[in-house]
Amino acid sequence: MEIEGKIAVVTGAGRGMGRAISLQLAEAGANIAVSDINADSVEETATAVKALGRESLAVPADMGDISQIDRMIAQAREAFGRIDIIVNNAGVTKFLDIMDVLEEDWDQIHRVNAKGVFFGMQRAAREMIDQRSGGRIINIASIAGKGYSGTSNAAYAASKGAVLSMTMIAAHQLARYGINVNAICPGSTLTAMGAETMAGRAATSGASIEELEQARDARIPIGRPNDPEDIAAMARFLAGPGARNITGQSFNVDGGLVMH
Ligand SMILES: NC(=O)c1ccc[n+]([C@@H]2O[C@H](COP(=O)([O-])OP(=O)(O)OC[C@H]3O[C@@H](n4cnc5c(N)ncnc54)[C@H](O)[C@@H]3O)[C@@H](O)[C@H]2O)c1
Repeated sequence: MEIEGKIAVVTGAGRGMGRAISLQLAEAGANIAVSDINADSVEETATAVKALGRESLAVPADMGDISQIDRMIAQAREAFGRIDIIVNNAGVTKFLDIMDVLEEDWDQIHRVNAKGVFFGMQRAAREMIDQRSGGRIINIASIAGKGYSGTSNAAYAASKGAVLSMTMIAAHQLARYGINVNAICPGSTLTAMGAETMAGRAATSGASIEELEQARDARIPIGRPNDPEDIAAMARFLAGPGARNITGQSFNVDGGLVMH
């Protein structure tokens, strides 16, 4: 187990990628503070982590609220004594054409996807700096932040571009403390968010969900969308010893949709 005994915090851990990441980090040996705005679902994830033989604490928190981020970090430190890894995964979107994005949509998306990731990263880094034994920060961005045209909306794409920028600058400024900061850019992924985006696309295009799914798969060079576990496998690698000399990078996990 490559991260045996390490302490991880995973946000947006109640379902989808956050849940899969929590389970794979647990399989790799970590004990995990799982956090989500949804108190019931995150409790279920904590139970699933414990079933793998690791310790887990469910911490309900809204990643758009800095006082709740501080509480999440404090609770994780109190429960486990330290924080070695944070995966800033919580994110939101809404399928909208650029001409239909309202100020409230922009604010709702950016408070979680950009502000939440920034302060999740900063507050976890404070703990890691005090501990003086380095750390790993993994931010979940999106290929939307790299200009992929199939994104749910332009404001969402901007929030993910912000995650990519802050990942690089944080990697520069935290390297001296032995903290590695990287991002993962998922492509189309089979989660509730992915399904909601698909339903929104069907409602506006007139095509059926089945037709849209076939078109999606045809665009992906490997021919299949991600399961949440595909993202979790990359997070597990970035949290582990094999990634000790990797920082400031963003990794597309997308079946080849974006190549560079
Ligand atoms: N599904 C995709 O196709 C896709 C593609 C690229 C990137 N992403 C990104 O991956 C990440 C995970 O997405 P997913 O598909 O698993 O989504 P999801 O909607 O299935 O799960 C997201 C989780 O985050 C939680 N959450 C929402 N708002 C929150 C808040 N304010 N504070 C704390 N938790 C909150 C939700 O309750 C939910 O449990 C997101 O950052 C998303 O933008 C998703």
